[in-house]
Amino acid sequence: MPLTPQPIRRARVSSLATYVPPRLLTNADLEKLVDTSNEWILQRTGIEQRHIVEKGVGTSDLAKEAALVAIARAGLTPADIDLIIVGTTTPDTLFPSTACRLQAKIGAVNAWGFDLGAACSGFLYGLTTAANMVAAGASQRALVVGGDVMSSIIDYTDRTTCVIFGDGAGAVVVEASDDDRIGVIDFENYVDGHGGSALQMPAGGSLMPTTAETVAQRLHYVKQDGQTVFKFAIRNTEEACRRVLERNNLTANDIDLFVSHQANRRIIMGAAEKLGLPPEKVIINIERFGNTTAGTIPIALDEAVNTGRLKNGDLVMLASVGAGFTVGAVLIRWGTKA
Ligand code: COA
Repeated sequence: MPLTPQPIRRARVSSLATYVPPRLLTNADLEKLVDTSNEWILQRTGIEQRHIVEKGVGTSDLAKEAALVAIARAGLTPADIDLIIVGTTTPDTLFPSTACRLQAKIGAVNAWGFDLGAACSGFLYGLTTAANMVAAGASQRALVVGGDVMSSIIDYTDRTTCVIFGDGAGAVVVEASDDDRIGVIDFENYVDGHGGSALQMPAGGSLMPTTAETVAQRLHYVKQDGQTVFKFAIRNTEEACRRVLERNNLTANDIDLFVSHQANRRIIMGAAEKLGLPPEKVIINIERFGNTTAGTIPIALDEAVNTGRLKNGDLVMLASVGAGFTVGAVLIRWGTKA
């Protein structure tokens, strides 16, 4: 079907919902698995607990719970959705995509869709893609999911990674804004592909297919050079946000709320401080969820809305750094339907 060109419009997040599995993995639980302590984890990361799926639950299951609520909150039915983008590093299977599985699970019979691989920036890359599709008139009602079952690729004998990650998902509906002031204003996404070895899962792809040896060598788990990631994340969270602020003639004073990817409390606070954002403008909920990869930003946004810290009309800056490295910052004048 030929695409009918439409006037450029502003896209907005018209609804939001999240889902985390009920089972908890606390720091005390991890003390029994590896040589670590509650004090070390709290002091170095800010994390107290994470949510972990039961066996047999995949990313599409978490995505389904969040998506159905988000669609209902937008006053829509799944058949109204015409595009599904799932940002994830832990698809149910390499193929078919989690977006296809989700399409079937929620009955989004009129949607096409795909998975988007940008690790912890998956939600922001999905949101900016959908917002531009909506702005161009190529989508009317897009569903963007950021979600991961990180427990499926975490080595629970490796104390340097297993304390960090958790499972969870968030979903937003993106539609054209009926108010020109409300919606996605600008974004700055970039990658530095030289950072690949600092955070990766070495095996299971085309480069190193699964063999008995790769499994024995534990190569199907997250491997990370924590300090390299840490330094890159602080510097580039600041850099991406600064570019967006400068381009829009804004300063940190104009920002009502900073919702960063929740990778480490010290990364978030370090970047906020460099940007000149006071703690009261920063959302932190890593203590209860850990790093849910593509899930952290919608989960933090949902909490900000539910606690009254993010209101319609507020100017919110979202930011993320992920494996790749991928970097993203998105500026939104917030305004949901409900
Ligand atoms: N419990 C106790 N000790 C631990 C530990 C744990 N869970 N993990 C590592 N250590 C030890 C190390 O072995 C090291 O011991 P050593 O000094 O005897 O060699 C010591 O603690 C310090 O390790 P280091 O790696 O320097 O700690 P850190 O302050 O850099 O914190 C991270 C480690 C992983 C928490 C931190 O680097 C980080 O958050 N990096 C970014 C990770 C991230 O955000 N990833 C996702 C990005 S999207």
